[in-house]
Amino acid sequence: MSNSLNIGSIDDIDEGEAKVIPGDENGTGNDIAVFHAEDGNFYALDDTCTHEEASLADGWIEGTEVECPVHSAKFCLKAGTALCMPATIAARTHKVEVTDDGLVLYPNVAANADA
Ligand code: FES
Repeated sequence: MSNSLNIGSIDDIDEGEAKVIPGDENGTGNDIAVFHAEDGNFYALDDTCTHEEASLADGWIEGTEVECPVHSAKFCLKAGTALCMPATIAARTHKVEVTDDGLVLYPNVAANADA
């Protein structure tokens, strides 16, 4: 049984931008960043970088990757994989769906990482 959360309209997050859903709102206790990637799709990762304390939502989106604003580690938005140093631990993914009612986030449900 998983919870889902309506997090607003797709127009709320411009392409190349991200929005943070705070931990007390998403129910996981950890902030979740929802990214509008340059492939037009939406992806969600734990917002805190797996290296140190940094908000990935404040980073730079390139294609379907995000670069941490502090030490420039890159993560795959689709699978959470840490793509370069200094991060070595993957970021947790969360499923996001685009519905007629807007964006729906499934906190703690891993995104389909087969892409
Ligand atoms: S805090 Fe993100 S790479 Fe160091």
